[in-house]
Amino acid sequence: MGGMCGIVGYVGSPPASGRPLEVVIEGLRRLEYRGYDSAGVVVVTPEGLESTKKAGKLANLVEALEAAPLGLGTAAIGHTRWATHGAPNDTNAHPHRSGRTAVIHNGIVENFATLKAELLAEGVEFASETDTEVVAHLLDRAYDATGDLTSAMRQVVRRLDGTFTLLAVHAHHPDTVVGARHDSPLVVGLGEGENFLGSDVAAFIARTRQALELGQDEVVTITPTSVRVTDFDGKPVQARPFTVDWDASAAEKGGFRSFMDKEIADEPKAVADTLLGRTDADGQLVLDEIRIEESVLRAVNKIVVVACGTAAYAGHVAKYAIEHWCRIPVEVELAHEFRYRDPVVDERTLVVAVSQSGETMDTLMAVRHAREQGSTTLAIVNTHGSTIPRESDAVLYTHAGPEVAVASTKAFLAQITAAYLVGLYLAQLRGTLFSDEIASKLDELRVMPDKLQTVLDRSERVREIARWMADTPTVLFLGRHVGYPVAMEGALKLKELAYIHAEGFAAGELKHGPIALIEPGQPVFVVVPSPRGRHSLHSKVVSNIQEIRARGARTLVIAEDGDEAVVPFADEVFRVPRCPTLLAPLLTVVPLQVFACELAHAKGLDVDQPRNLAKSVTVE
Ligand code: AGP
Repeated sequence: MGGMCGIVGYVGSPPASGRPLEVVIEGLRRLEYRGYDSAGVVVVTPEGLESTKKAGKLANLVEALEAAPLGLGTAAIGHTRWATHGAPNDTNAHPHRSGRTAVIHNGIVENFATLKAELLAEGVEFASETDTEVVAHLLDRAYDATGDLTSAMRQVVRRLDGTFTLLAVHAHHPDTVVGARHDSPLVVGLGEGENFLGSDVAAFIARTRQALELGQDEVVTITPTSVRVTDFDGKPVQARPFTVDWDASAAEKGGFRSFMDKEIADEPKAVADTLLGRTDADGQLVLDEIRIEESVLRAVNKIVVVACGTAAYAGHVAKYAIEHWCRIPVEVELAHEFRYRDPVVDERTLVVAVSQSGETMDTLMAVRHAREQGSTTLAIVNTHGSTIPRESDAVLYTHAGPEVAVASTKAFLAQITAAYLVGLYLAQLRGTLFSDEIASKLDELRVMPDKLQTVLDRSERVREIARWMADTPTVLFLGRHVGYPVAMEGALKLKELAYIHAEGFAAGELKHGPIALIEPGQPVFVVVPSPRGRHSLHSKVVSNIQEIRARGARTLVIAEDGDEAVVPFADEVFRVPRCPTLLAPLLTVVPLQVFACELAHAKGLDVDQPRNLAKSVTVE
């Protein structure tokens, strides 16, 4: 049970070594960012299964293992659980055992009550309130009937509804770990005389970068010298090998206070890398990785972006550019709303799923719904081998590298960049922009990393203001046009990092209500459009600043170099380099990210793992 758990499996090395447990604990450490509230491990020793599991952080488990070490074995599996239902306590922690079988699980077994009733009627005793324990009992009984853990796993998974990644071990097979996945991530790590399983590559990249991607409804059996993959019916499957291009250090903090600080500093590289290799020598766009028939893309008459949280705001920013460049209506839908509102989509709709983790269940379900309606689906995802790209018709990966902090920063910029590439690609295909216009927009994108670096180099003032404002009860964010989703993203960052109530508004909305919130001293960030844009948005936003300043607001203004019109009404001006109106979000969001990050540090909060949140929400 549990949403976005960390899963690690290891098999290999002689029984006498402590390596299995050492590798599993190390793997769980690298998965800590996924958010969890209990952890546990089980080792297959010559005497049988030995396990320990503890509520709370991994440190509690390590302490318990030091106090009462487990026996030495050849295979081990470990788990960090983020409770979705069933209190986060020792009993509900994984692994769950039954007889000579132990299992760990990520996801939710939706029909566990029925299965549990069946088992209870047969006299099975339950120790926990979890759905996972049901799987343990079913597996142990299936093993007794077949004598083979892999076929037992296949038999059991066919009876489960819901989402799951399962790893199981059995006392009779000290050199085997069996895994299964349905709607939830699992990848194989390939070693020399040892093999690994993980809910993502971070679990084993310190040991190997050769990996195998597992698909939907597959069962994998690893021993020290073999990896076998079949579907749920036992038919062999050829898993796709890939090399993990993140090295172990990339997943470390590299000297920064937090992963978030590091990832903000990585933003210029995230944007540059996302552009890399996608234009040819004469600056033309090359996106043949988007394997969708050109005729299909030409016939598209509507685009729907489905995403959650920050990814949805990235989609919202991209909407302005894609509509302007392609003249196709773009709707941005929160994935969890999209699926249940019977949306009007069909084979001429392009559904774009934006997701850093590629595992967000709400977004995955939206993709599935879209495909059922015959729509073409394109994923913009950061995590290779994740589920959403696998279930989409095509994927354009962002190359932001591992984003470990729960609060998304560099991925947000990379998502906007990738979405712009999609927009330019569609404009090129459909002829709504001349190739020289496309080339010049690509040139403007290519210089954004340098401009980003300039914004980062100026961020000390933002950090100073944040420290002064550490005890602010509420902050408002205003923006207009592409600055509007930036304002909402700035508010989300503050909510999730500093636990401060914050709200982003369309600046034009002020007089329709929100201005009633303005009282003396109320801090308001205002994202100001370029004064050089074709439209009069700039002067409208300046008058918005005037209105709130007249009512005592503390105006914190994000404005372009050289924009003097804002100065008389701004308590603070944070300058960003000039750039085209549609690209400005790549710069104007950065002071807001830095502000939220610094304020959270100032409040002594856990910046990388904010309370109640997890990096990837793999439950609906
Ligand atoms: C962003 O800071 C939040 N952690 C959250 O809103 C996140 O963007 C959202 O859950 C979507 O995640 P995804 O990009 O992995 O799909």
